[in-house]
Amino acid sequence: MLARLLTQTRLLTQISIGSGVVLCTLGLARAETTQTPLDAIIGQSLFERVWVSAPASTKATDGLGPLFNARSCAACHPGGGRAEISLSAQGDIIGPGLVARFTQEAAQGDPFYGRQLQSSAVQGRDAEGKLSLQADGVHVKELTAGPLHPHTHVSGRIAPQLHGLAHLAALDPEVIAENADPEDKNKDGISGRVHWVRDATGGQQAGRFGWRAAHPSLTSQSAEAFLIDLGLSTSLFPSPAGDCTTAQTACLESPHGDPTVEIPDSLLTLIIRYLENLSPPKAQADSRGEALFSATGCAACHIPRLVQKEGAVPPAYTDLLLHDMGEALASPALHKEVAASEWRTAPLWGMGQAIAQNSTFLHDGRAATIRQAIDFHGGEALSARQAFETLSAENKQILLTFVETR
Ligand code: HEC
Ligand code: HEC
Repeated sequence: MLARLLTQTRLLTQISIGSGVVLCTLGLARAETTQTPLDAIIGQSLFERVWVSAPASTKATDGLGPLFNARSCAACHPGGGRAEISLSAQGDIIGPGLVARFTQEAAQGDPFYGRQLQSSAVQGRDAEGKLSLQADGVHVKELTAGPLHPHTHVSGRIAPQLHGLAHLAALDPEVIAENADPEDKNKDGISGRVHWVRDATGGQQAGRFGWRAAHPSLTSQSAEAFLIDLGLSTSLFPSPAGDCTTAQTACLESPHGDPTVEIPDSLLTLIIRYLENLSPPKAQADSRGEALFSATGCAACHIPRLVQKEGAVPPAYTDLLLHDMGEALASPALHKEVAASEWRTAPLWGMGQAIAQNSTFLHDGRAATIRQAIDFHGGEALSARQAFETLSAENKQILLTFVETR
């Protein structure tokens, strides 16, 4: 049986890349102990694969960079989880899971450095610089090609956890739109709206992934990760030079992987199968905590369970809508249609695991604790924050424990 499984795996892997190159060498132990569908197992090995720069002897794994932030998906999402954050004594961020994005008011990146600071480069090329985390968010330093354009704004993004996302991907757009109230007609001070985005065919889709709900599907979000985090091209984002701008000539002239596409659709699909197979984080029932969470107004945005015809989705604690969160969290968006202060309600499932992993909170990881994350809630969430402040010390602790154990 085992031998057959492994033969099937090799066969499937070969079919999936078409060229007869064996892409994955799967460990016996993994194939033996899991009931996971084969595609998801192969997908996991691709998620964990360490890509290398071109030209390499193993063609199937090259094309990384020229500029990149990490060599694998798993480097930023360990075990499919949220980024682990540790800081040096100087506040430098150790590890790739917290990145710096560059935007200008006209919804574009920095004219030289592009949309993201790449902290690594292939051999013989300079990385772009380093990152540090301060109380007000992410800063860049030691830029290797001079300062940023004076109008470039820097804002951090932490890698969120990826378990359970299949349930959010499967939601009908109408289910998301049901909770939107852009003009605040019900006068509750909360006016979430759907981030409608255009897909490749020009159709409108409900954005749901990423801190600004900029991606309607796991596929487009993952293809963008290949582009800007790893410097690998896909059919959706075909530039082999990743986030290199036209001004970065050395980067553009560096060797690339397969000139047609570095990551074929079949490989991307296997990674999506892996993501779809990650089951939602489990949390203990806590009726007192849940009641306080709701009474304080947190549940107005962090909706515990979205309900669709097929039934309730596992509790993700999000409405997937964009909300104005106030000035303290604002940074210009790359998408013209999104205001600087608008963010997607962050799902709260996986908070327990995030704390265990030593991660930090909010889009740019500036909050060291859940308590601090609440303290930054402004705009539409101001009244919920104020309601939290008026709770007794005991109730505050019950509510915090509830969030910390999701
Ligand atoms: C350098 C770090 C880094 C790497 C490498 C990386 N990611 Fe991410 N990932 C992030 C960040 C940061 C975000 C949030 C992006 C945003 O909001 O703009 C994210 C978001 C996501 C999301 C959306 C999660 C949600 O809740 O909305 C998915 C899915 C995802 N990444 C998959 C992948 C896959 C698949 C790969 C490998 C191809 C990958 N990532 C590689 C940093 C990384
Ligand atoms: C108006 C909508 C709204 C309300 C009300 C609200 N939140 Fe949030 N919450 C958000 C948004 C949007 C974010 C993401 C903000 C960011 O990252 O900049 C967020 C982020 C968070 C985070 C950080 C999650 C992460 O992944 O880093 C926590 C924790 C949190 N909220 C808890 C609460 C609690 C507890 C309450 C009630 C006291 C509350 N929120 C009320 C919209 C809301």
